[in-house]
Amino acid sequence: MKTVSDEVEQEVSTGSLPAWDRVEELARSAHARFRHDDEGAVATYIPVLAEVDPALFGVCVAEVSGAVHEVGETSYEFSVQSISKAFVYALVCEEHGHEVVRERVGVDNTGLAFNSVIAVELNDGHPMNPMVNAGALATTALMPGASFAEQWENVRTGLSRFAGRQLELDGEVYRSESATNARNKAIARLLQSYGRIDLDPLEVVDVYTRQCALRVDARDLAVMGATLADGGVNPVTGERVVSAQVCRDTLAVLASTGMYERSGEWLFEIGLPAKSGVTGGIVAIAPGKGAIGTFSPRLDPAGNSVRGRHATAYLSRALGLNIFASAAQAAATGVPDGVEHSA
Ligand code: DON
Repeated sequence: MKTVSDEVEQEVSTGSLPAWDRVEELARSAHARFRHDDEGAVATYIPVLAEVDPALFGVCVAEVSGAVHEVGETSYEFSVQSISKAFVYALVCEEHGHEVVRERVGVDNTGLAFNSVIAVELNDGHPMNPMVNAGALATTALMPGASFAEQWENVRTGLSRFAGRQLELDGEVYRSESATNARNKAIARLLQSYGRIDLDPLEVVDVYTRQCALRVDARDLAVMGATLADGGVNPVTGERVVSAQVCRDTLAVLASTGMYERSGEWLFEIGLPAKSGVTGGIVAIAPGKGAIGTFSPRLDPAGNSVRGRHATAYLSRALGLNIFASAAQAAATGVPDGVEHSA
């Protein structure tokens, strides 16, 4: 089916960030304001994650110009977890085109928890969207590669290109999650029973578990996000990772589903497509401008990092990133003489 975007040349919505000094100052201020907020609790359902120091906090802003602002523990490495779903989705869309992936995985919010089994049953086996575990498993199964080892290598190199450096597997996290992920295995088998996964479901879970165990830091998250903000070109390395259309589609999916069943609330409060992970990372993307990567392990009841949410909300507002915000043109520039508003 031909869509409007195939027929009409694309305009882009951009704008620009404040000057470098101002962004630097606001990134520092975001860190200072929330570094003593001790609300929330670290995730423990993957046993090894419980061992993290809850006081860690890093804030990073990466601009599409390639400038990077780092405050706090931005080099502390943690497993990327669910944030990988956004970037694997982009790689799979790049490979297959978004219509195939839309049909196979979907783009709508389930309104249920990220690891819900009942959501699959309620939707006749359709995973609904790539940011919940069912949809992420169906998406990972679509990664190119003649073997599972090759699929995994393509995930790793693909995410590394987004980050602009070679990402490595955290073996301890991988083993800890592999030993306790019966629920993901059940979801994968359920998808198989509905014909939504053609490959061996347990092997797909293994590739997915590895992808979640890739080590990143807050700076990586910001650069990965800034690549999506920059039409698919990594602004630090200059490498094209995915197409501009794939970025647009990925950001639309993140806006509606990236923060799980809190996606509406997040969009209302912060106004940016974003993705969070259970280790305490958040990446929020401002199309045409840049991205914010935060890391702090204490999570709110919805599973989003408390300090990360506060810092992102502050920066979205202070840097003017909310994609829904506008100022009246007439108030800012005046209506030209002789031009009247129609009633
Ligand atoms: O599949 C899982 O449960 C984890 N590997 C990822 C969970 C996650 O990050 C969800 N986050 N909010």
